[in-house]
Parts: sequence; structure tokens; C-alpha cells
Amino acid sequence: MVALPGGAMQARAQSRPTAPSARVPYGVAVALEPFRNDPELKRRLISDVDLIVPMNALKWASLRHTEGQFDFSGADELVAFAHQHGKLLHGHALLWYAFNPKWIDAVQSPRRLERELRTHIETVVSRYKGTIPTWDVVNEAIAHDPLSQGKWRRGVWYDVLGPRHVDIAFQAAAAADPAAKLFINDYDLEDDSLRTTARQKAMLSIVRRLQDRNIPIHGVGFQAHLYAERGIGVEGLQSFVRTLERMGLEVAVTELDVIDWKLSADPVVRDRAVARTAEAFLDALYGAVTPRSLTTWGLNDRYSWIGDTFPRRDSAKARPLPFDQNWQPKQLWSVIRRFRGSVG
Ligand code: XIL
Repeated sequence: MVALPGGAMQARAQSRPTAPSARVPYGVAVALEPFRNDPELKRRLISDVDLIVPMNALKWASLRHTEGQFDFSGADELVAFAHQHGKLLHGHALLWYAFNPKWIDAVQSPRRLERELRTHIETVVSRYKGTIPTWDVVNEAIAHDPLSQGKWRRGVWYDVLGPRHVDIAFQAAAAADPAAKLFINDYDLEDDSLRTTARQKAMLSIVRRLQDRNIPIHGVGFQAHLYAERGIGVEGLQSFVRTLERMGLEVAVTELDVIDWKLSADPVVRDRAVARTAEAFLDALYGAVTPRSLTTWGLNDRYSWIGDTFPRRDSAKARPLPFDQNWQPKQLWSVIRRFRGSVG
């Protein structure tokens, strides 16, 4: 038996293994470059995936690279593919502090920034009305560490508009498509550190803020960029999602992958630990609520962002996703199949 992160084993012992009784749509975030160049990715999307999330094509830097214009070319390409093959779509993301064009980050006037934000959301959500039924309206509004940095994530939206950037975004999205399901999305909501507990609290307070103002919000997205060396805080996670459920919100798993930077290079060891980390998280989550969808941030290790953002000390390639670089399924694929409800 390989040494595993203690928390992961604990999580397995504490919550009964759960599989959903109904099928949970399995989603994959798709970047344009591999989509255009790797035919096997398209084949897999067609045969094994229910839902497509444009990985970058709906972000500001992609849609608004030129001030005063919208460029829907990349997003439309993915939307057309989803349509053609009967796949669901999820929109990511209408507001984020990162991946912005320089011109929007340079806006300093609150009136102008509010106008830009409203126009952007109105234009994008209206264009895909009836096509993209769910949106990450606000992405990563919470500071990395609310204990030392305060609740809100710094960036143009908060710095210029303050907390009401969240109100404006949700209001504008609801006005553009009253039938859309609107999500707030964030990371590091799964372990039992004080920092994560503070992030969960911050999330609840943002949801309450919107509800107090009668602004529609329908769900919380767990990015779930999990760390293989961290445990899952089962009790804290379950009580957090039960509170969300009592507040009338759904949850979704929006960007699942497992960061393997601290694990030994041996792929056998890593693939097992990666699968167990995801399993521990999903066991804990499904033990409390069934998510609306289960999405991984890519399908094949070759195209993952994890290796660049969480580099290993050795030269081994990151193995965060269900398929390896040669399209061989790994143990994480069996975990996904179990939690989407397609195997017993
Ligand atoms: C990442 C993409 O995967 C990269 O291709 C891009 O360069 C940067 O963004 N949280 C999010 C995602 O909400 O949008 C990020 O995606 C990963 C972290």
C-alpha cells in the first residue's frame, strides 16, 4: 500500500461510498488549441462527455481583446460543436480579476467600469440565451487568504467598484436571461485549514449579500483544484454545502483536477494518489448533496494548466486528469465514471 495523504484516507473511512442515483452530467473544459489540433479529443468529447465548458474562449481577454468590440469567433466554434453533438454547455466566466485585456484593467472611473461590465454581460448572455443555460457569473471573488487579506479579491472590479461588482454582475446576467442558472465559482473550499474555513465563510456572506438584495443567485461552483498532499475537511465541507442547500442553492463541481507537484515521480504512485484524492472529495461532497454537474478542467494531461502553474522540482510531467498524454485512461477516469453515475 502506498503512503497516502492522511486526510484522504480519513475521508474514505468517514463517509459511506456514494454514487448518485441519477446521472450527473460529466463536463470537460475545452481549450481551442487542442480542440482544433487533436482529433482524439473531439472523438472523446463526442463519446464520453455530456457538457462542454469553453476553457478560455468566453473570458474577457478572448472576447474583448480589442476595446469597443466583441470577438465571438472562438466561443462560437465550441458552441457549434456542442450543438452539433447534442452536448450541454456551461459558460465561464463573466467576471474574473484575471485574464482581462489591458484596457479594462486600466479603467479607473467607477461609472465607466460599471457601464462596461453591464454592457459586456448583457451582450454575452443575450447572445447565448437558450444555448448556454448556466453561467459562472463571478469567478474567484474571494481573497486567497481572507484571514490576512480581507474578504475580497483585489483586482480591477473590486478596486474600482467595491463589493457591488458582484451585485452588478448577477443583476446584469439575470436581466439578460431570466431563465439562466447563475453561479459564483471559487477554489480552495475543500480542506479543513483555517484559511479554507475563512473562504467558506466568505462565500456564505457573499451569497447572503445577494439574497438580502433580492439579486438572483442559483449556485456555488467548486473549482476543486485539489492538492494530493492535502486532506479533505469532510465535516466542514459537508456542513458548508448543507448550509448552501438550506439557502436554496445548488452546487456544481466546475474545474476538478489534482495537483501532483509534491508526489514522487512514479506514475503508478501518482495516478493512485490523484484518483484517491478526487474520490475522497467526491465521497464527502456526494455524502451531503448531489452536484448539478461534475466537470474536469480538461481531459488529457497533455493540455492541462497544472504543470505550468504548479511546477514539479523534477522534470516529470503533471498527471492531474483522467487520461494520460497518450489517451490511456487512468484510475481517475474510473472515479469520474462512478460519480457521474454511469457505473454501479
Ligand atoms: C486557466 C486556463 O486553464 C489556462 O489555459 C489559462 O491560461 C488561465 O486560466 N481557475 C479558473 C480557470 O477559474 O479559468 C483557470 O483556467 C484555472 C483556475
